[in-house]
Amino acid sequence: MALSETIRALSTMQVVTTIESMRRLRSQAGGSVGFVPTMGYLHEGHLSLVRRARAGNDIVVASIFVNPAQFGPTEDFEKYPRDPQRDLAVLQQEKTDIVFMPSAVEMYPEGFDTYVDVGGVTDVLEGAHRPGHFRGVTTVVQKLFNIVQPTRAYFGQKDAQQLVVIRKMVSDLRLNVEVVGCPTVRETGGLAMSSRNVYLSPDERRAALILFRALSLSERLWRNGERDGTKLRDRLQGLIGREPLAKIDYVSVSDPVTLQELETIEAPALISLAIRIGGTRLIDNLIVGEKRPSPLLAELVAAAK
Ligand code: PAJ
Repeated sequence: MALSETIRALSTMQVVTTIESMRRLRSQAGGSVGFVPTMGYLHEGHLSLVRRARAGNDIVVASIFVNPAQFGPTEDFEKYPRDPQRDLAVLQQEKTDIVFMPSAVEMYPEGFDTYVDVGGVTDVLEGAHRPGHFRGVTTVVQKLFNIVQPTRAYFGQKDAQQLVVIRKMVSDLRLNVEVVGCPTVRETGGLAMSSRNVYLSPDERRAALILFRALSLSERLWRNGERDGTKLRDRLQGLIGREPLAKIDYVSVSDPVTLQELETIEAPALISLAIRIGGTRLIDNLIVGEKRPSPLLAELVAAAK
């Protein structure tokens, strides 16, 4: 074990709840800082980001903050699952150096009234179905970036539009941070890991596999030469429509950068879905026509036939 690794293993993870203490630790940190923002209730998807950050940086900072500003008035902010103790235990196992866990008043003190609003790419998909959601996301992420001052920040492809929106914010505001997108981690059967999966009953969990089945179908249709966006959307809607527990919010075939719907698919294209299974809203996506699709994903797609 290298000396730096031994020192890291011996030193304990620091958990801070105030902006002031986070800034103090940041000012003492030498070298590169990898940052993983989360809303907690951590699963393997989150941990894959922490591992990427660990592998690529001297210091790893994770944040746990269930951000009220990104939930709509009728959404699940109150019941969003929380388990900070378990989160801290797994972050320690992954050799995280610093965990920033602010309270809501620390991030949004009385009178807070400044927001970051990315235009264009927030008008469609999740943005169209969840008004104000991305304004909450970009405001908190910008504030976290400002406090943590990371060299690199890690986001999951699972939330494809969020990744596009964050990249746009970083580019437009010329923020000094490298945004690293990481592949979606799935359960056997293909269900994308999500903190919200805990809401699903056993029957709903089975029904939720329809999302990955639909994405796999789009991959097969693409490989068989389908290039008509409308036909592809219709096929996916038809398949999902046959699952009695599923209700479609949207089925989209879009450009992965502009997120504009495609009539003709010129590779690559982002296939994204938002589906309600009972009371739970799930999102998932897949990029077809990528030059180097992940071998693991190809295996799952083949198994989902
Ligand atoms: P949260 O849903 O907790 O997700 C934190 C990060 O984990 C995001 O970048 C998300 O894309 C990633 N992630 C979630 N499930 C994943 C999976 N199955 N595979 C790979 N990565 C996955 O996204 C948020 O929190 C918030 O919007 C946040 C960015 C923290 C701002 O509040």
